[in-house]
Amino acid sequence: MTHAPPRIVVTRQIAEPALALLREAGDVDLPQPDRGLTEAELHRAVAGADALVSTLQDRIDASVIAAAGPRLRVVATVAVGYDNIDVDAVTERGVLVTNTPGVLTEATADLTFGLLLAVTRRIGEGERLVREQRPWEFRLDFMLGAGLQGRTLGIVGLGQIGRAVARRAKAFGMEIAYTGRRRVPEEVEAELSARFLPQAELLASADVVSLHCPLTPQTRHLIDASALAAMKPGAFLLNTTRGPVVDEDALARALADGVIAGAGLDVFEEEPHVHPGLLELDNVVLTPHLGSATVETRTEMALLAARNVAAVLSDEPALTPVRS
Ligand code: DGY
Repeated sequence: MTHAPPRIVVTRQIAEPALALLREAGDVDLPQPDRGLTEAELHRAVAGADALVSTLQDRIDASVIAAAGPRLRVVATVAVGYDNIDVDAVTERGVLVTNTPGVLTEATADLTFGLLLAVTRRIGEGERLVREQRPWEFRLDFMLGAGLQGRTLGIVGLGQIGRAVARRAKAFGMEIAYTGRRRVPEEVEAELSARFLPQAELLASADVVSLHCPLTPQTRHLIDASALAAMKPGAFLLNTTRGPVVDEDALARALADGVIAGAGLDVFEEEPHVHPGLLELDNVVLTPHLGSATVETRTEMALLAARNVAAVLSDEPALTPVRS
């Protein structure tokens, strides 16, 4: 008896080499290549699927697994973060979750550093001034920013991306401090010249605070009004992890009132909505969730997701499973 090939549902357009790999593993269904699926469309599309390739925009919970039915074996998200997936509910139903760690580390660290330079050296503000043809002339006291040499970068979450940001900061002559749930191995601290600080001390002493922790119930609004008030006056905040780690309302107020000097944000609480208070401010640089957005990185992410699917469908261990 011949078995029907596995059915693989892909919720959004992914890089062609990854689709090609998935087509070798089964029948690929990409119902809406030009936009994402609504919740109802996702429920319909996933019915009878053996594998689901999703992104951070898809909310994956018990209802999706129920809609898929008993054949579903793997949910492969094309992202490192998986706060959009109820991993416990999915794994309880015997479905494996995989993500794409590692392959987006350098691209995300580059973007973080881009935001750091843009906000401290007022690149966004200067670009707007030139583009809008507002009057300006070279003056020794014109549009001065903050230098990085000798300043302290405070990293919240010294995982792979935090470490890659620390390496860049070190090359710029910055001191590195970090905080997190636990200390990293001594050799990592030594390589990065990074010292561990409790969160309160890090906030009080860092010139730039960069967020690299995952979004969890514990880190939601980690940076709220009181955390912002505890930051060093004149400090900058960077967020390239997940929007809800920062209370955007509190941040907009802190930036407007000069509690901190500026912020570089790639992620937002209710993407693609951006808090209107932030849009009005010159001391904030805003990018539309571009951390991993290079051709190479997005291809590698999609390929890793596809390899995870292919492995699971051929009864091999997944390359990068998410443990619940
Ligand atoms: C991720 O992978 O979690 C990023 O936010 C998008 O690449």
